[in-house]
Amino acid sequence: MCSSATRHLKSIQAAASPEELKSLIRQRTQTVCSLSARLLRVQDEERRRLARELHDSTGQTLTALKLQLASLQEGVRIGRTDPTDFAQVNALADQALRDIRTTSYLLFPPLLDERGFCSAAEWYVDGFSKRSNIQVRLHLASIGRLPRLIETGFFRVLQESLANIYRHSASRIADVRLNQTSGIVVLEVQDYGNGIPAALLDQFTRAGTSAGVGLAGMRERMEDFGGRLEITSGPSGTQIRASVRIESVPSDSNESSGFKHAVAA
Ligand SMILES: Nc1ncnc2c1ncn2[C@@H]1O[C@H](COP(=O)(O)OP(=O)(O)OP(=O)(O)O)[C@@H](O)[C@H]1O
Ligand SMILES: [Mg+2]
Repeated sequence: MCSSATRHLKSIQAAASPEELKSLIRQRTQTVCSLSARLLRVQDEERRRLARELHDSTGQTLTALKLQLASLQEGVRIGRTDPTDFAQVNALADQALRDIRTTSYLLFPPLLDERGFCSAAEWYVDGFSKRSNIQVRLHLASIGRLPRLIETGFFRVLQESLANIYRHSASRIADVRLNQTSGIVVLEVQDYGNGIPAALLDQFTRAGTSAGVGLAGMRERMEDFGGRLEITSGPSGTQIRASVRIESVPSDSNESSGFKHAVAA
């Protein structure tokens, strides 16, 4: 059972009276229903975004490729072919391949499974910085491989935190830190922007809901494998801190030993 469900079960067991119990169960059912509805909406939104992306980028390139091939075919039919036509067909096919590779990598980068969180984070941050013009400074301790669920969870936290920085913070710089101390692995994503509105942060801390599903999704994901998500935010910026205890990974990897430092701008 996931840790948030365990937490809910404990509060139900601690309820003093049948009335309290009924009200708790009602509350939980409402929360689950509203989260499911929001998740379905996000899934639809994601599918819409992908459909648009495929249509607008790869679809357009393939249309241009088809036109180019038709003109090439006509050239062959009338015995007048131009070598540059072939070069253009080749370039368009390359472009379509690049589009498909980028889309599939963004959905789930193969690097994450093959080489782990740090390699996938470097690749993702590099592309993010180019797309957004936000300078991201990476400080990644060499902590080796983590269980797959945790690497995927950390990667999703990184993606959502950077997306939020781009969409909401107005910060031009971000710091991403990965460290391990005393068996606890910590990922921090920090920006220097205008901060999460206090009322919204308060509502998220108390009720677990916010304007979208990004913050709630990160927290649920971390709690699913026994981790935590903490948010600190104010007028000088926001810090997202995801942490999890790793029993099997040797501790004491710190900034001075085996510390990898990179900047993507
Ligand atoms: N780094 C940030 N700086 C400033 N405000 C932020 C930041 N991150 C989140 N917020 C605020 O918190 C709100 C909730 O964030 P959340 O990620 O849950 O939803 P969202 O980004 O609006 O939508 P989505 O569901 O697509 O993630 C945002 O709408 C924004 O107002
Ligand atoms: Mg978001």
